Amino acid sequence: MEDSSVPLFGTPLSGVALKVMLLGSGELGKEVTIALQRLGVEVVAVDRYENAPAHQVAHRSHVVSMTDKEALRRVILAEQPDVIVPEIEAIATDLLVELEDEGVARVIPTARAAQLTMNREGIRRLAAETLGLPVSPYQFVDSLDALRQAIDSDIGYPCVIKPVMSSSGKGQSVLKSAADLEKSWTYAQEGGRTGKGRVIVEGFINFDYEITLLTVRYRDPHSGQIQTAFCEPIGHQQLDGDYIESWQPHVMSPKALEKAREIAKTVTGSLGGMGVFGVELFVAGDQVWFSEVSPRPHDTGMVTMISQEQSEFELHARALLGLPVNTTLRQPGASSVIYGGVQAKAVTIANVAQALAEEGTDIRLFGKPESFVKRRMGVALATAADVRQAREKAKRVSSTVTISAAS
Ligand SMILES: Nc1ncnc2c1ncn2[C@@H]1O[C@H](COP(=O)(O)OP(=O)(O)O)[C@@H](O)[C@H]1O
Ligand SMILES: [Mg+2]
Repeated sequence: MEDSSVPLFGTPLSGVALKVMLLGSGELGKEVTIALQRLGVEVVAVDRYENAPAHQVAHRSHVVSMTDKEALRRVILAEQPDVIVPEIEAIATDLLVELEDEGVARVIPTARAAQLTMNREGIRRLAAETLGLPVSPYQFVDSLDALRQAIDSDIGYPCVIKPVMSSSGKGQSVLKSAADLEKSWTYAQEGGRTGKGRVIVEGFINFDYEITLLTVRYRDPHSGQIQTAFCEPIGHQQLDGDYIESWQPHVMSPKALEKAREIAKTVTGSLGGMGVFGVELFVAGDQVWFSEVSPRPHDTGMVTMISQEQSEFELHARALLGLPVNTTLRQPGASSVIYGGVQAKAVTIANVAQALAEEGTDIRLFGKPESFVKRRMGVALATAADVRQAREKAKRVSSTVTISAAS
């Protein structure tokens, strides 16, 4: 008898295929697409610009502003996907809630998860106030005066302010004293996705290190139940709100690891559904704070393409299809980001062979149609006997590759 919890696979492009639509087609979506393609799934990739990375490997692509609810509705109704996989935060998520309620498509992991995590207020209040998880002290404010008051009466210095709708550190700054107030406020007003508005102010956590705990909710084929599996912790280094290198495993004390897993299981269980989540945590000694969560693969998790039996992208593809997963670490690994370094439409990339001459290295070049100085254009990957050597190796690879404007 066919298990109704696992969808039927079918011939792509024939009308009977299992069809997945990606909303967002960047480098993470490109890898999810490749993983789905390997399983014979029909993939439709959507993004707001042409020739986005996942567009280049999907069966079909569309260029749509995903925050435009009506435009997004049109493309979803025209394509009739079985499954919708949000790859970015900036989506008209209320539409996803409607479509999921109407049974039009399954949203990964759930439409509610996409909605709650696109706004820092949704996920923070859920984690702290509903689930009681440890988080930094915080307040939400809508004006410079309210910000000053929140800091003076409650949060104190140093503190961090972030637009409620933003990612990759946009509009985010650390305030050391009252002298930074106006500058930080203005910066946050300019950096938010939807322009001026609400910000979160958080007490600064003086952590020893921060990790991403990739957490997978998947259907266990033996029991038929949804279960939670964890990857080894991923350590990472952030610069101006963007990750520049990551490594796996990041060794933690047994107590801290246990707390981290408990927090991750609680928050992902509350968001529900199936798929990979990137749970961001701060750690000092045995103390662990929840920071935020992506209900999808995480950029720092690109290291898993070289360090794990199944990368976070394969894990996401398998989990969303109801297939079993394997989160085993194969060997210690590291990733190091390759930035464009130039503003140019088309670029040439030199010294790739030289960069990969060292054993245990690999590279992903995302194929983005335009380079910016601070745009992520690729990532260097490395494995070694330990994390320290893997990090050094990955950095050698990323610094050897050179990108120039094509003349
Ligand atoms: N309250 C905090 N205390 C200390 N560092 C923080 C705090 N909030 C953010 N950071 C630092 O800034 C980085 C980006 O913040 P995050 O909330 O994850 O924003 P984004 O959604 O842009 O990734 C974190 O990974 C961490 O390094
Ligand atoms: Mg983050």
